[in-house]
Amino acid sequence: MRETKTTIIVYWNIYKTSGEAAAVAAALLKGYVDASGLRVAVAPPFTALESVSSVLKGGKIALAAQNMHSRDEGAFTGEVSAPMLKALGVGYVILGHSERRHIFGESDAVVNAKVKAALAHGLTPVLCVGETLQEREAGLTERRITEQLEGSWEGIGKEGMEKTIVAYEPVWAIGTGKTASPAQAQEVHRLIRKKIHEIFGKFSSDCAILLYGGSVKPENARVLMKEEDVDGVLVGGASLSVDSFLGIIAEGSASRKEKGGF
Ligand code: 13P
Repeated sequence: MRETKTTIIVYWNIYKTSGEAAAVAAALLKGYVDASGLRVAVAPPFTALESVSSVLKGGKIALAAQNMHSRDEGAFTGEVSAPMLKALGVGYVILGHSERRHIFGESDAVVNAKVKAALAHGLTPVLCVGETLQEREAGLTERRITEQLEGSWEGIGKEGMEKTIVAYEPVWAIGTGKTASPAQAQEVHRLIRKKIHEIFGKFSSDCAILLYGGSVKPENARVLMKEEDVDGVLVGGASLSVDSFLGIIAEGSASRKEKGGF
């Protein structure tokens, strides 16, 4: 097994007020059984970052954000910046999520600027890529994923790549209950690792953390994470309940052992 951590990043979309999110974070922390080789981060809405940060402080679960602007400051009404996230103890930031790309029109260039800003401020970007159903059915999956990767990586260099997590989230599997089969996920993850190898070299591709996202739940988390190139999961809906969140973490530990990790 490659010496990477099994990584589980969850986000709560626009569910949970500040108080609700803090209560769930406290319950998670209580139920969380730390397992070596596992890394877990939670991305509440911006309005709950501060309250969740206070709860998670010093614990084993890290804080993530669901988005950010690429500029540090300025007249960008309604946006938040990397320094603002850093000041609240955020360590990871999800960038280019399919909803940001499809609902809010973020292009690869916009996502690329955000990735660069995150890296410049010491935040770990969780860069999302994925094809639509139409693209998959037209045989365009590889082309679409490659375009998104190349566009979003532009100019980040090997060092930047080694600090970036990539999440494959097939758009057709998000919030639809349709999960990619382990083989479908593995096929695209293999492609992503190959691209990293081609552009940044073997070391970068060996240490890259590749997550799968799209209708992950406790029932399918283990088989997905058991695939060779699936290093963890990015979870939306199923992370809203404490039991199901803890279930996914337990499955992550189990799959790690089955893959020969510690
Ligand atoms: P769901 O887990 O709610 O399907 O969302 C996943 C997702 O958006 C992957 O990034």
